[in-house]
Amino acid sequence: MFAQRPDSRPATVEVFVSDTALLVPEGASAAAAVMLAGLPAIRETPVSGAPRLPYCMMGICFDCLAEIDGVANRQACMVPVAPGMRIAPQHGARVARTGA
Ligand code: FES
Repeated sequence: MFAQRPDSRPATVEVFVSDTALLVPEGASAAAAVMLAGLPAIRETPVSGAPRLPYCMMGICFDCLAEIDGVANRQACMVPVAPGMRIAPQHGARVARTGA
């Protein structure tokens, strides 16, 4: 008499935003995970230190620069989440790599 409805909820993956575990829908961006986590800022501008959060969500504004899996300056809105991904705020300018 009662038919079972298919589960329409999207699959989720566990990521870590500032070391806090969070379940986010599969296929969401790292920037979306940052917004779900409710952080006050994901980066600070190198010049004035002003706090920033993802804004355009399409790779234009660069306000979503974050450290993802240990790599700084990643555009979080352009990176899909993956299980176990670690997303951390970025403070100031990234240190340039040298060839040595
Ligand atoms: S939110 Fe604008 S570039 Fe990522």
